[in-house]
Order: sequence, then structure tokens, then C-alpha cells
Amino acid sequence: MHYKTLLVAFMGLAFFWGNAQKQIPEVEQLLQKMTIEEKIGQLNLLTPGGGVATGEVVSENVGAKIKTGQVGGLFGVAGPDRVRKAQELAVKESRLGIPLLIGSDVIHGYKTTYPIPLGLSSTWDMDLVRQAAQMAAREATADGINWNFSPMVDIARDPRWGRISEGAGEDPYLGSKIAEAMVKGYQGEDLAAVHTMLACVKHLALYGAAEAGRDYHTVDMGKIKMFNQYLPPYKAAIDAGAASVMSSFNDVDGVPATGNKWLLTDLLRTQWGFDGFVVSDYTSLNEMVPHGLGDLQAVSALALKAGLDMDMVGEGFLTTLKKSLDEGKITAEDITKACRRVLEAKYISGLFEDPYKYLDSKRPKNDILTKENRALARKLATRSFVLLKNHNNLLPLEKKGKIALIGPLADSRENMLGTWAPTGDFNLAVTILEGFNNVASNADIKYAKGANISDDVDFAKNVNALGRRITMDERSPEAMLKEAVDLAKTSDVVVAVVGEATEMSGESSSRTDISIPDIQKKLIKALVETGKPVALVLMSGRPLTIPEEFDLPVSILQVWHPGVEAGNAIADVVFGDYNPSGKLTATWPVNVGQIPIYHSTKVTGRPAPESGEFQKFRSNYLDAPNAPLLPFGYGLSYTTFDYSNLRLNKKEIHQGEAISATVTITNTGNYDGEEVVQLYLRDVVRSITPPKRQLKGFQKVMLKKGERKEVTITLSPDDLKFYNAQLEFVSEPGEFEVFVGTNSDAELSETFTLK
Ligand code: BGC
Repeated sequence: MHYKTLLVAFMGLAFFWGNAQKQIPEVEQLLQKMTIEEKIGQLNLLTPGGGVATGEVVSENVGAKIKTGQVGGLFGVAGPDRVRKAQELAVKESRLGIPLLIGSDVIHGYKTTYPIPLGLSSTWDMDLVRQAAQMAAREATADGINWNFSPMVDIARDPRWGRISEGAGEDPYLGSKIAEAMVKGYQGEDLAAVHTMLACVKHLALYGAAEAGRDYHTVDMGKIKMFNQYLPPYKAAIDAGAASVMSSFNDVDGVPATGNKWLLTDLLRTQWGFDGFVVSDYTSLNEMVPHGLGDLQAVSALALKAGLDMDMVGEGFLTTLKKSLDEGKITAEDITKACRRVLEAKYISGLFEDPYKYLDSKRPKNDILTKENRALARKLATRSFVLLKNHNNLLPLEKKGKIALIGPLADSRENMLGTWAPTGDFNLAVTILEGFNNVASNADIKYAKGANISDDVDFAKNVNALGRRITMDERSPEAMLKEAVDLAKTSDVVVAVVGEATEMSGESSSRTDISIPDIQKKLIKALVETGKPVALVLMSGRPLTIPEEFDLPVSILQVWHPGVEAGNAIADVVFGDYNPSGKLTATWPVNVGQIPIYHSTKVTGRPAPESGEFQKFRSNYLDAPNAPLLPFGYGLSYTTFDYSNLRLNKKEIHQGEAISATVTITNTGNYDGEEVVQLYLRDVVRSITPPKRQLKGFQKVMLKKGERKEVTITLSPDDLKFYNAQLEFVSEPGEFEVFVGTNSDAELSETFTLK
């Protein structure tokens, strides 16, 4: 047979199976021995409680179910001894002794919590991101975990959505690089090694595009936007070898992701070639019932047929699949296919070879919260901070004199880790007061709280649903304010630590008003009125609307939620031991009315005037500019960088050719510093409306004071491509404009032509 005929036959077969097959002999032999009930059991993921229950159900009778082969995996169980007990029930007491997958949400560090993902993305340092994930894997596996529900790669362009904190921001290019770095960090070279764990890319798909920024809300998006803007990071994670995928809560084109065949099979497996397994989100299978897709039996059958392999907590598969099989609604092969994928994951984790391989009781002590790990967390945090403004070059401060450290977050251990850190322990976190005293021990540092995080009792109650993050001081607001102002007046400089409590962002923490709470605004104004120099250390899990604070004569350092080394890292940057280099990965709007707002917006047929002036019958607002307060990619340094002499190595290229842009960058200020050189591309004319510009390359470089460097960024042929109206990934001939600079408003530009 001609090889092409063979190839077509093979592709047809792959299509028939719905995906590439691993065909592991051990797994195939095991499948032969399994009853249909045992196969269904492997599709069941439970949590015995003790973790964060984000749905209404917590699993019951877990031990009995494991023994009878009704459980494929657990999460919310950690520590070699506890995991061993569970694993022994499966291995020694169930008929076939199939080991369990042990999952966990290790979102930004296991016990050594590092910055929330939005902060981590602000480092623009892929090597550091990979190291962070690697450290998380080393710690989590030391505690018996072999499967991580991360990375979360959902593109988010609506900062009202609380989970913007958990991803890499608004941009598909940067988001894809981060997705790849995290998968490689978690999974390493060999998934069976004891320091690596299976990654689970989530939440497929489009979860970050919830209408009105309200969590779990409807998503409605056309395919062109989906393919060009929202899907690339998931695909990048799959291309990097992610072993599993989590389906999202929302619907995609009218069908909930968890039961969406187009998404879970046609796109994920057939088009992208994914050969791992898909798990639902927490009870997202059951939630297809209120979504309006039928009863539990119907939605379970639908989801299995669509390509869902494992059901998280809801037990829809466990309780209905046999009935659906008997009634002819699904086939035995549908069940076998899903079971095979779960078993294959166990096989590649090395669990069949040794079910107890992640259970060395000496490892937690040796691998978790080590000095080196804490040092890395501190480094990561310093790199994640973004200097938003430096009025009169107030920062960095000298390590001397009288410093008033003021604000509800200045001595608040419980708010340092940030959202989704269930494996971390906030009691281990370094407060900012402690960090200042550690790093600037010769300075006279005095603290006053100044205000509660919020004085709105109902709001605080909602924020505190997962534990007390907003504590109400017994003193009156007036007394607290007076104490702070009096302290400020007798000090040389004021550092005010303000912003959001940990649970003001994250899952189920959407806000319609994303400004600093009123009581803290009042504090900031009163401190500025003392006439003392004021630096704001701003903490949040999302972009905030801060136009008023930005206009005040203050310096502003954005620190997200920095993790276990928070105070030390903030002190490192405030006192100049590290010169900040973070850049925003999501646009900061002027007000909520501008949302959704992002740099790769389209020009439209009636663009607003370049000047920013309002013009009738143009695409603009009567009461606000189109421009954000702070653009994507923005971030200052204690030094200054000059960009000049942008040039391309070619003026014309042909399809399939690469092109390079080189720019001269000079450190013109008084400090050594790192800068993220960013390249944006505009496809001037094409068959579908192009974005104004899109990030297509970046490089983080270190320049000593006075140093000059040539930085070259190369665009690959794929960087010129986009998904056209037929959803083909193509580049079209014509002119392209390249912009290089310090943020997405970069002005230096050059053009080239694709022939
Ligand atoms: C979240 C997931 C998480 C899961 C398990 C859900 O509520 O959406 O991101 O992995 O809970 O904890």
C-alpha cells in the first residue's frame, strides 16, 4: 500500500477513536480483567473533606467506596501517612488493587506560597515561572500528591471577575508562554519521577469570559475571538504535554463545557491531538442540570459521550452510567475509553510500578518550606511587583530615619498569601511590619492600622465566608485615623499598605466596584494632607480602579498578594535591595464602565481621535477616555531606559520566513535594573479585522547603570498567523507594523511586507 494511503487510513482510525491512543499493554491487560462497575469506579473523583469544598457536596463513605473499587482518585488528602492509608485501601483491599490518583489545588506554591498567578505573570520571566512550578511540584509530591489542578490559563479581560487573580492576565501570547513554562515545571522530563506531578490545565474553556465579570456566569463568544484570543493558552499547555484537562463550569457556544463534544473531543482530541484525560470541575457535571440540559442521568451520559473521563465529586457517573448502559444510551466502549485514559495517567505517573512511590515520610521535612524554597518565594515576589508611579523619586527609601508604616494590610498576616492557597499556612507568612524591621533594622519604624480594610459590614461578611480576612477593629474609625495621622506627622516618610483582603478576589469573589474601599481612600487622603512624602504599597488580586489615588502626589508600588515571604520581599523593593521590574499583564481601567478593556482591542470603523479628545460620531465615551489608566505591559523602574534605533533585518519576507527586530536600549538612570523589552505587531490589512496591535515577543534584560545593549526579538512565521473566517491558521500577504518599547503603547515602529 502506498504510504499516503496508509497515512489516511491511520488518520481515519485516529478520528474514529476520537484521539490518539497510547496503547499501553499493561493498561490493556488490566482493562480485560475489569467489570463494568470497576471501570465506572475509576471515573469517580472524591474528596473526603478537609480541603476547600467549593460546591455543595462533600463526598461520603469514601473509605468503603475505595475498597469496593468505586473511586479512581482523591483530592483534599495530603501527607505521606494519610495518603498511604487511602492508597492501601485501594491497593490492598479493592479486588484489582488499582492505585489512586491523589490530586490537589497547588495554585501558587504548595506550602512555600509564592505570589498569586497574576503577580507571577507580572515577572515576565519564564525561567522563574518554571522554577516556581518545579518547587511546587517538589513540595507537593513530598506530601504524597501526584496530580495538580493547575495551571489555570483562562484569559481574563474583566477585572470584576475575581479569578483574574488566578491566571496570567489578558494576553494569549504571554498566557501561552506561561502555560508552557508551568506545565514543564510541574511535569519535568519524566512523570514517573518522584518530584514531578501531572498537570491539569484548566478551565477548558473560556471561563474567564463570564458575562459582566460574575463568576460561573454565561459565556457567549464567536469562534474567531475564541480561536485567536482565548484558546491559545490551553493549546500551548497541551502542546507542552499537559497530562490532563479540567472542563469549565460555563457553557461554550450554548453547551456546558463539561458536556460539550465539540470542545472535549473534536477540538481537544481530534484537532489538538490531546491524549490525556479530562476531569470535570467541582460538580460541574451535576450543574448541567440547573444549566437546563436534563436530569443527572441524561447529563452524565451526555458528558461521557462528549469526552469527559472523570467526574469530580458529583457522582453522576457513579450513580447513573450503568443504568444508561442497560438502557442503551451509552456503550460499554464509551466507558472503557474513559477508564483507559484514567488508567494511562496512573501508569505514566509510575503508580502501577509502585503505588507508594510518592510516600516517603522523610521527604516533607527535607523538601517542604526549606530555606532555599523560601528564598525563591522571596525572589519571585520581588520580581512580581510593579512600580506604578514614583512621585519625586521617593522610592527607594533609605534604611534610616522615622518611617510611619500605616494601613490595614501592614500587619495582617492572614492576607499575605492571597486567594487559592489552601495548602499554604498564613501563620507562616512574614508581615510587612516584620519585613521592614528585618531589612531596615536601623530605621525607626512605627506602625498604625489607620483603618479597617472595609467598614461595610455586609461586604466584610461575604469576604469572610472562607475565614476571617477582614477584621473589624474595636476602636472607632475616627480614633484609628487620628492615631495614623498623628504618627505620620511625627515621621519623615509614610508607607501606607492598602488595598484588597485575600478573599476580595479569587473564586466566587466578583466585585462591581473595584476601587479601594472608601474607608481606606479616606485614610490615604488624610495621610497625603499631612504634607509628608507618602508611598502606597498596593495589594490586590486584580487591577483596581485608582484614578483619584493616582493623581495624588504619592508613589505607588503594586504588590498583588505576594505569598509567604511578603513582608521581606516588599521591604527588599521599598528599600532598594531589588529594583522593581514587573510589568502589568492586565490593563488597569480608569473606571468600571470601560470594561472589558485590553490592549489588543480592534480599531473599529469610527476610531476615536488620536488626541483622546471626544468627537461626536466616533467610538468614544462622553464621560471617560478610551485609554486605560495604565496600559498592558506597563511598569516603571528606579532607573530609566531609553529605546532607540529600531531596525528590522529585512524589509520583505516570504511565507515561512522569520524576521528579526533589533533595538538599542540604554540604562540612563542611577540604578542597575531589569527591563522587559516588548514587541507588538499590527497586521495592517487582512481578511478579518485586525487588533490594533498584539504582543508577539518580549525579552527581559539586565542593564547596569549607564549600560547599553542591543536586544533582538525574532518573529517566527507562526507569529504572523491568525485564525481566519474558516478557522484556518494562516498569514496573509501585506504590510505589518512592528512596535518595540517598554509597554503596549510602545512608539518606536518599523514596517515590513509579507510577500
Ligand atoms: C475550582 C477549580 C478547583 C476545584 C477543586 C473548583 O471550585 O473551580 O479550579 O480545581 O474547585 O478544588
